[in-house]
Amino acid sequence: ATIRREDYRPPAWFIPEVELDFQLDLERTVVRSKLDVRRSKSAKADEPLVLQGDDISPTSVKVDGEARTDWTLVEGDLVLPLNGASHSVEIEVELDPSTNTQLMGLYASNDMLCTQCEAEGFRRITFAPDRPDVLSRYQVRMEADKAKFPVLLCNGDKVAEGDGENGRHWVQWNDPWPKPSYLFALVAGDLVANNDSFTTRSGKPVELNIWVRDGDLDRTGHAMKALKDSMRWDEETYGREYDLGLFNIVAVSDFNMGAMENKGLNIFNSRYILADPEVATDADFDGIEGVVAHEYFHNWSGNRVTCRDWFQLSLKEGFTVYRDQSFSADMGSAALKRIEDVRILRAAQFPEDAGPLAHPIRPESYQEISNFYTATIYNKGAEVIRMMNTLMGAESFRKGTDLYFDRHDGEAATCEDFVTAMEDGGEIDLKQFRNWYETPGTPRVTANLSHDPQTGTATVHLSQKIAQNGEKPKSSELVIPLKTALLDPETGAHQGEQLLLLDQTEKSFVLEGYRDHPVLSINRGFSAPIILESSQTAEQLAFLSAHDDDPFARFEAVQRLMTGYLTAKVLGTPVDRDIILHAVAKILGDKEIDPAFLAELLVLPSEAFLGDQMVEVDPQAIHDEREKLRGKIAVQFEKQFRKLYKSCWPGEFSLDAEARANRKLRNVTLGYLAASYTDDAAELAFEQYREADNMTAMQGALAVLSHLEAEERTIAFDDFYAKFKSNPLVLDKWFSLQAMSLRPDTVKRIDSLSRHPDFTLSNPNRVRALYGAFTGNQVRFHDLSGKGYQMIADMVIALDKQNPQTAARFIPQLGRWRRYERERSELMRLALEKIAAQPELSKDVSEQVHKSLA
Ligand code: ARG
Ligand code: ZN
Repeated sequence: ATIRREDYRPPAWFIPEVELDFQLDLERTVVRSKLDVRRSKSAKADEPLVLQGDDISPTSVKVDGEARTDWTLVEGDLVLPLNGASHSVEIEVELDPSTNTQLMGLYASNDMLCTQCEAEGFRRITFAPDRPDVLSRYQVRMEADKAKFPVLLCNGDKVAEGDGENGRHWVQWNDPWPKPSYLFALVAGDLVANNDSFTTRSGKPVELNIWVRDGDLDRTGHAMKALKDSMRWDEETYGREYDLGLFNIVAVSDFNMGAMENKGLNIFNSRYILADPEVATDADFDGIEGVVAHEYFHNWSGNRVTCRDWFQLSLKEGFTVYRDQSFSADMGSAALKRIEDVRILRAAQFPEDAGPLAHPIRPESYQEISNFYTATIYNKGAEVIRMMNTLMGAESFRKGTDLYFDRHDGEAATCEDFVTAMEDGGEIDLKQFRNWYETPGTPRVTANLSHDPQTGTATVHLSQKIAQNGEKPKSSELVIPLKTALLDPETGAHQGEQLLLLDQTEKSFVLEGYRDHPVLSINRGFSAPIILESSQTAEQLAFLSAHDDDPFARFEAVQRLMTGYLTAKVLGTPVDRDIILHAVAKILGDKEIDPAFLAELLVLPSEAFLGDQMVEVDPQAIHDEREKLRGKIAVQFEKQFRKLYKSCWPGEFSLDAEARANRKLRNVTLGYLAASYTDDAAELAFEQYREADNMTAMQGALAVLSHLEAEERTIAFDDFYAKFKSNPLVLDKWFSLQAMSLRPDTVKRIDSLSRHPDFTLSNPNRVRALYGAFTGNQVRFHDLSGKGYQMIADMVIALDKQNPQTAARFIPQLGRWRRYERERSELMRLALEKIAAQPELSKDVSEQVHKSLA
């Protein structure tokens, strides 16, 4: 069934108080709930009480202490006739967490019990109005065997605990903050904590714990630091303090997503908690910092102010991603962070926006809400908030968010509420800006610069075009803020950055004081999430790639230069290569560039990105041309690369910026050395592997080796397996690196890895490590045999039976079939048809497959 945004109705019943009692065990858990139900004043007097349920049935129902049997189950939901305005409803349910393979609701991971409720998992634990606009105060009693489950955690504050009979013990929890059911959580297990504390700026002490399995404790330091940094940052940047005396984080191995912001009890995929240099790459460290911050920031943007309904998901996710991006930018290099964020946006969100699953950041309809935890809701949502900041300026933006938090504290709000608060608090008119909330597709902006030497005026001609994909946009004119500078054609200097607001289909801006024809630098810092179609020549791009003072714009110029060259080559259009080589020479010769930025500039646009620029994608042709250019650059600058490689030999391991930059540049140059057809590539990579004292260097070496036909490859991969086979997160890397190999036998290798004793469909990280990495391997996934597509289809069919949410995540890769050349396109479509033909598809997979084929 399709749920529509316009059909929103306020709840008929409110539940101000919830009492839960859990008798916990892996195979049998008994849940008793006591709901204080109050009829809404706007509801009809005979409106029955409808409590959502999924895969559960009540063993007992009581109203005001009296047993009732006049309830019915309607599509899983409990329907109970009720008169009067308020009652106490008690329900008992029995669960078997050990068989819950969906990882939604209450489930077992290793020997621990944990929950995931967002978006609609609470209804798999007990019957409730499982919608975010019903907020309740929770009191929870947990009881379990003390030896098996010595630690019992829930939201809020621990108020009492004690021992029971037969080796059991119990804990009583009270969460003073009213919350929707999706923020409920509990954990029971044999865990140890990294215990620390934080004092809020108003002087309140907060106990912090990161709970992990015995043996993982010394890998929690980075996450703890990230947590404390986040707490301080949110006080300083948004004026938001933490509001309980206790903040718990738990790491679990089996988790569908990254992490979850449950009130006072964040639950994390262990990959976003556990790290030390030996097992985690620099990128892993960054991921931990970002996700810990993200979940912490939700305490205000999500928990204190929550969402009215799931169409408003971007209200909390877009805003919170923007907050975590800003935090990471402040903790490290803002320029590098911006480049990375745009890379992610382009890799994940632009393709989504250009395909059959395109949707606005506030969707109009859905079948399964789990399918809408997308790059559009999250990352494009963050871009929309960022644009507000750009339009308003930091001070006015802060006034807006202050008003938003004040005005809606304790409420379930809408995106509209957010924009209105920004208008009122920040004193700005965002009427037309709202169009971003309902417009799917990436806008295309053309920018041309003309110059009149007589008058010394430069005119920037802009126009916008909204894509016509997916749901039809209602409006056509967006407010697009474009940071712009006009650079002196000799020196690259400019008179300051201007913010050009493109708010009509076409608009021109006349700028005075340019004797010579300047060079246009536009969408600096990627101020708007658009596709730029400027008529810049390769010479102008080369100029910008050497001179632009905005690091993002400079990076972008290099990317555009390379992209223009490579797409022309793929199409067989004549194009000049020397200009690229000159640009690279300039970059390599620039003494001012720091190593991290240099590494960034040297990375060629990805094969996937190149494909996105073409009308019809031929992955093999793209791969071949890209490899040729890489090879050419590698040969031409081999000496420099060798020198660079040696110069960034790392000293003592450290996480500081300089050491990290060296590791990054070292891996990039190793990649070029391997591409330069020198015979010592395998040797070099193997040496780096052997001498590495950190995972970044190891992974970099293995990535190079993985493509080679050399015995060093086998030795290194075997050695890596032997060393790390007991660490699941590192073993994931072992699977991924092989899945990303360019070797022709990769499909076969993946097939055999899927039968490896360490492979299992039950662990989402492992599934993503093998198959997720494989679908990103353009040239091998899109092998003309079609075997890659079939393999993914078969895996989706098998996985759908146990974990629909994770299975559905693989459909978009096949769903892009219309973009590929004829033969591949047909094979991809057939793979989708095969999935569609399965008798019992989940709602998750069914929605994605049918939308992709439509
Ligand atoms: N709110 C979580 C986060 O972004 C994500 C939870 C997603 N859960 C799901 N079942 N789709 O931090
Ligand atoms: Zn989130």
